[in-house]
Amino acid sequence: MTSSSPQRVPNIEALFQPTHDEGARQQFVASLRKHAIIDMRADLARDYQECVAPELAARGAKPADWRAIERAMEKRPSYRFYSTVRYHAQEMCYQSVQPTIERALPAMIETSRSIAADNPHGGTLRLAENFEVPRYVSALDVHLIPGCFHTEHTIDDVAQGAVTAFGGKVFTGQHPYRKRPGVVAESISHWLKLRYPDFKPRRILDMGTTSGKNLAPFAAVFPQAELHGIDVAAPTLRFGHALAAHEGVPIHFSQQNAEATDFPDGHFDLIVSSFFFHEVSSVAVPRILRECARLLAPGGMMVHMELPNEAAVGAYENFFWNWDIENNNEPHYGKFRASDPFESCVAAGFARNECFAHRIPDYASFGAEKLARFVRGELEAPPHGAGGWFVFGARKLATT
Ligand SMILES: C[S@@+](CC[C@H](N)C(=O)[O-])C[C@H]1O[C@@H](n2cnc3c(N)ncnc32)[C@H](O)[C@@H]1O
Repeated sequence: MTSSSPQRVPNIEALFQPTHDEGARQQFVASLRKHAIIDMRADLARDYQECVAPELAARGAKPADWRAIERAMEKRPSYRFYSTVRYHAQEMCYQSVQPTIERALPAMIETSRSIAADNPHGGTLRLAENFEVPRYVSALDVHLIPGCFHTEHTIDDVAQGAVTAFGGKVFTGQHPYRKRPGVVAESISHWLKLRYPDFKPRRILDMGTTSGKNLAPFAAVFPQAELHGIDVAAPTLRFGHALAAHEGVPIHFSQQNAEATDFPDGHFDLIVSSFFFHEVSSVAVPRILRECARLLAPGGMMVHMELPNEAAVGAYENFFWNWDIENNNEPHYGKFRASDPFESCVAAGFARNECFAHRIPDYASFGAEKLARFVRGELEAPPHGAGGWFVFGARKLATT
């Protein structure tokens, strides 16, 4: 064992030690959220199909779009109960981990600080002085995370990294398709490997990486690649850097705005993101896609996992997905979903026949064999969030 072997790097996550009551609360919240997002979702759809839609049809008032469905559903006890439970479960995901983190915080900060000083495993952490966090992150508590991703209460603070990471575990703890961390990265990396067997990225960039959860799994599939993760939030980057060092995955984290980074032209062969674009403003989206076009080497790929756009699903699904706009502090989500990500890639300079927007299977639930059949065109990917993921992106022409 060398002094830099994974076992010797302390595990920042192991400092999270809930008391019996805290643990019980966290498990309760995970189950409550699952009840809202899976069980009550089914009840809601049934109420719409069996009662609301026939009533509207009888009055000759077929809903024209998701807003009309929302107006009809807002009056229903099924929707009011679902929405209330879902809102509170969302809020409690993060609140339920705060006392545990508060207690562990001095040790977490010390751990992250010493790992950042030693940089075991070759990863790095680069934070910017006087960094300007964009308003679309700083103006409100996105996802109802108290303090959002970026807030710093003390020097070298990692609290928001921990709240996001452990609150996220409560959030997905009972979700059938998100139990393992990094499922999106797993799905994209395995799909890319099968779909483009000759594609061997030398450098991979994850935009809006938070703590690198959906970046680290690329190391297993593309071991030759250098991994880079950028985010505007320093606490999540500190936390992610400590975690990656413990896990023995060399990741270069830097605090940067994806709208304009300091990487040279053509620096990356693969640019990815997950759950990112719907959170940035409609002014930032084209800037970020143009930045991707600049950063990609010829022949490079970008693959962004996102919510399916409105045109990709029906009006009822749009009503369901768009709950987050007003209830989950995601004001830009609606505009993003109303746009066409395929056309946004074309507008950013990618060749039309190199752009794509479609679903890929969730690797954890589909498995390697079925994924290969999907790639051969023999199987369809399940719906987004229920065994599939919506992705959009492009390949940069090899000759540019
Ligand atoms: C929902 S989180 C992404 C989650 C993460 N990709 C994952 O899969 O675990 C959105 C992240 O994007 C970051 N972010 C928002 N705007 C950004 C920008 N312009 N540049 C870089 N990061 C940004 C936020 O700070 C936050 O960490």
